[in-house]
This record gives sequence, C-alpha cells and structure tokens, in this order.
Amino acid sequence: MARLHRAAFLEERPWSEAEFATLLHQPNVFAIGSLQAFALVRIAADEAELLTIATDPRHQRQGLAKQLMSQWHAKAAQRGARRALLEVAEDNIGARALYSETGYKEFFRRQEYYRTVGVAHVDAILMDRELP
Ligand SMILES: CC(C)(COP(=O)(O)OP(=O)(O)OC[C@H]1O[C@@H](n2cnc3c(N)ncnc32)[C@H](O)[C@@H]1OP(=O)(O)O)[C@@H](O)C(=O)NCCC(=O)NCCS
Repeated sequence: MARLHRAAFLEERPWSEAEFATLLHQPNVFAIGSLQAFALVRIAADEAELLTIATDPRHQRQGLAKQLMSQWHAKAAQRGARRALLEVAEDNIGARALYSETGYKEFFRRQEYYRTVGVAHVDAILMDRELP
C-alpha cells in the first residue's frame, strides 16, 4: 500500500509502511483492493470516511477506483454506516470526477487548506453521500 501510495500521489507526502500498519491495526479501519488499487476506510459510529484511495498510474482509467468505491460502500453499510464522507483537494480533477460519479456532493469547503510553498493555496472540499 505504501508503494502504491507513493506511485499514485505525486504531489502529496507519501504515507509510510508504518503509518499504514498503525491505521490497519485499528479495529474500525479496513482496506480493500489489490496490487493495482486500494481504498482505506475508517468507520466511526454510523459514518464511514474514505482515508485514501489510489490506483497504480499504470492501471488508471480502467474503472478500478470506481469498483472500489462501490465495494467499500457496501462493506461500510454492512458494518452499520449510513453516511460516507471524504475530503479532496479542489485541484484534484480526476478524484473529484470519480466522487461526483459515485454520488458525492460537496457539503463544506476549508478555504486554502492545502498550502505548499511557492504554489497557490488550494481549498479542501468535503463531500458526502448516504449509504444504501
Ligand atoms: C483518483 C484515482 C484514485 C482514480 O483511479 P482510477 O482507477 O483511475 O479511476 P477509474 O478508472 O475508476 O475512474 C472512474 C471515473 O472517474 C473519473 N476520473 C478518474 N480519473 C480521472 C482523471 N484523471 N481525469 C478525469 N476524470 C477522471 C472518470 O469519470 C472515470 O470514468 P471514465 O474513465 O469512464 O471517464 C487515481 O487517479 C489516483 O490514484 N490518483 C492519485 C491519488 C489520488 O488523488 N487519490 C484521491 C485522493 S482524494
């Protein structure tokens, strides 16, 4: 997962193996996917939060992330979640298109949340949807 995360997230600090291990040891966190793509989700009460999702750049635009979205929605709903939420950078056009296509709507914006030296500040968009 750390390898895939590093390959997919070109502008964000990659998450280390230790960080993934710590998250995966939490009983309310689960991962789904394969060597090509994965999603990591945390459940708190009746809410499920997408912590991260990544597809190997060599396998992007093959429908893998879209499949993962419906798989984790189903798994989270089985565990009692009624609402799904996530955060995405305003300039992450691909991820925003994926989330709109899978039923998410913007409900809040953190203005200029992502700050990189020498780069324009970017809003964080919080999106949610109901789970079936
Ligand atoms: C975002 C990401 C997970 C999408 O993975 P993917 O497996 O390529 O996505 P899919 O093939 O399932 O795409 C499903 C739909 O999402 C939209 N989409 C996905 N990537 C897109 C892109 N780069 N540009 C525009 N739309 C895109 C399209 O509508 C696509 O359907 P289509 O291919 O039929 O047009 C992948 O680009 C990635 O790993 N990005 C880097 C990590 C990242 O930004 N994660 C999200 C953090 S919030």
